[in-house]
Amino acid sequence: MDKQLQEIRERILRELRETKSVQAIEQLRVQALGKKGELTGILRGMGKLPPEERPVMGQMVNKAREAIEQAIEERVTEFRRKEKELRLAAETLDVTLPVEERSQGAMHPMNIALEKMIDIFVGMGYEVVDGPEVEFDHFNFELLNLPKNHPARDAQDTFYVDDNIVLRTHTSPVQARVMTTRKPPIRVICPGRVYRADEADATHSPVFHQMEGLVIDENITMGDLKGTLDEFARQMFGEGISTRFRPSFFPFTEPSAEVDLTCANCRGKGCRMCKGTGWIEVLGAGMVNPKVLEMCGIDSKKYSGFAFGMGVERISILKYNIPNMRLLYENDLRFLTQYR
Ligand code: PHE
Repeated sequence: MDKQLQEIRERILRELRETKSVQAIEQLRVQALGKKGELTGILRGMGKLPPEERPVMGQMVNKAREAIEQAIEERVTEFRRKEKELRLAAETLDVTLPVEERSQGAMHPMNIALEKMIDIFVGMGYEVVDGPEVEFDHFNFELLNLPKNHPARDAQDTFYVDDNIVLRTHTSPVQARVMTTRKPPIRVICPGRVYRADEADATHSPVFHQMEGLVIDENITMGDLKGTLDEFARQMFGEGISTRFRPSFFPFTEPSAEVDLTCANCRGKGCRMCKGTGWIEVLGAGMVNPKVLEMCGIDSKKYSGFAFGMGVERISILKYNIPNMRLLYENDLRFLTQYR
């Protein structure tokens, strides 16, 4: 029996060394130590031994069992360690690999200029307001003192959707909307897209952008308008750039002005850009016509205000010395990525 035990013990340990998986080890464990296992079989067979031999034999079986259990334990631990090593090896990241470079987008030069324009006016306490691009005739024309058949409507080559709806020809309908829904004091800018049935050329596009400004309060004067636009010119184009007002006409402002900026290219000396005048026309402005105030429900005896509207493309062209407005629309990346 002694020999048999020895033989079993050695065989199990040998087989254990040859196992290739945790399941195989488990199988071996059952085969050796399970209820019907070989060692258990020997324990059962001990009943046939003479009583005085039994304790010795029992001890030997227990020793064998302990040895096998310990070997199994070690083998399992070894497997688990190997498994972990394999998993870690598979998960390894090579942090020294070169990165794939992503190309970075650039802001459109017109948007860079627009953001700067907005920043300047927000810095002066203005609020940014939005309005629809498909607009009622009522806001685009009527409330701005441009009744049907008014000759000044011809100046704006309008896209009509139907008799009462147009693609807005300027951002001024937003000031009409603001005036009809709010009470003074009002201080807003309204940037956005506008539409005119113009042929596209170096200075025109059927779709372009404007930024409207509107201030209404007690005692607002043309001096406030001039001061505001001078400050805008200085912040946008730098020290030494200011504005010049020339009398003009808009049905919704009275008096009205065409406003020129000192030519940023020659700083007023006269060059090809400004055709030798030293000035470049950039915007329309004026004191809000009292008739417009009244139509929009604002007491024109108590309140006065100024409004201005400027072309965003025009400002960005001047700011970045862009020779042709079409460059802004052609989406040529070689051009666009110069501005960041
Ligand atoms: N709406 C005018 C235009 O598009 C510009 C303007 C706005 C003029 C506000 C005066 C006051 O030409």
